[in-house]
Amino acid sequence: MRALQRERYGGPEVLAVREVATPRPGPGQALVRVRASSLNTADLDLLYGRPRIARIGYGLRRGQSGGMGLDLAGEVVEVGEGVTGLRPGDRVWADLFDQGHAALAEYVCVSVVALHPIPDGVSVADAATVPHSGLLALQGLKPAGPIRAGERVLINGAGGCVGPFAIQLAKARGAHVTGVDESAKFDLMRTAGADEVVDYAAVDITRWGRRFDVVLDIADTRGPLAMRRCLAPGGRYSLIARRLGSFASYVLFAPLVGRLTGTRMGTMFWKPNPAEYLAEFGTLLASGAVRPIVDSTWSLENAVTAFEHLDAGRARGKVLVVP
Ligand SMILES: NC(=O)c1ccc[n+]([C@@H]2O[C@H](COP(=O)([O-])OP(=O)(O)OC[C@H]3O[C@@H](n4cnc5c(N)ncnc54)[C@H](OP(=O)(O)O)[C@@H]3O)[C@@H](O)[C@H]2O)c1
Repeated sequence: MRALQRERYGGPEVLAVREVATPRPGPGQALVRVRASSLNTADLDLLYGRPRIARIGYGLRRGQSGGMGLDLAGEVVEVGEGVTGLRPGDRVWADLFDQGHAALAEYVCVSVVALHPIPDGVSVADAATVPHSGLLALQGLKPAGPIRAGERVLINGAGGCVGPFAIQLAKARGAHVTGVDESAKFDLMRTAGADEVVDYAAVDITRWGRRFDVVLDIADTRGPLAMRRCLAPGGRYSLIARRLGSFASYVLFAPLVGRLTGTRMGTMFWKPNPAEYLAEFGTLLASGAVRPIVDSTWSLENAVTAFEHLDAGRARGKVLVVP
């Protein structure tokens, strides 16, 4: 089969599509024919091996498997010994973050505990945009939830992979949404449904004077003492941490800052593939409440160029790869 491979950490130049042996499912695994995958900022992080401390988990020199790709949407082809819940032909989706991240291939073997059924009415292309970034948005909003109709929601860093999903999730709950990112992403944020868009290069949101009921911080640029100034009395703040240092500071200090200022501040504890979140997202997709925004679609043979496109900051929406 054809698969995107890398020999070491580095930029898209270390990637190549190669012929490799088709894997066989072991006990508790399923062989999945990949129908679509999509790229995330986390795929770039795994490619470059950043932050460096994460290489202790990913592999010191090149990453776990040599393969690439987190988001999987496809069909079960064969199941291994002891598998009862899945059959050949079943449509499944998953984030392969803790499953060897090798979805950019014609086939991949995955432990069945990570595989969940794609709901009826959801296309494989739409499903492939969601497992990593869509679920990050959903899980990221939970510590600040539940969002109520009419609440003012600020999404900081709303023009990347996660932000457009977060905007749509907040809009689906009837919120008034303000998206913050660079001006080149204004159209993307508006397409996702943002009522207002703000350029982070022009406005320091922590000195802006505007207060919000809910802040989802995807950019992770400021500490809790600064970000509390964005919150209205009783407001709720949730961070999707990009750095270990800020994760620690939001776990240790943010709850205290929240208590002292009459707000609620904290960070999300993420895990890939929680069944209840995939089911909730599936319902939102099937009903049309959330519609993935696709920047471009590439073949597996052009997956290296797709990575270059994302890495250059040119993507405005999800970058799909279809074997
Ligand atoms: N905490 C966890 O458990 C966990 C788990 C999985 C993943 N993650 C991480 O969470 C992040 C997910 O976000 P994502 O994929 O949406 O990232 P992304 O695609 O990099 O989007 C972040 C956006 O924020 C913008 N930005 C940069 N500086 C800003 C500022 N000062 N103010 C406002 N916006 C700013 C960026 O614009 P520019 O292009 O101009 O920089 C970009 O559009 C990834 O880094 C991922 O690795 C965290």
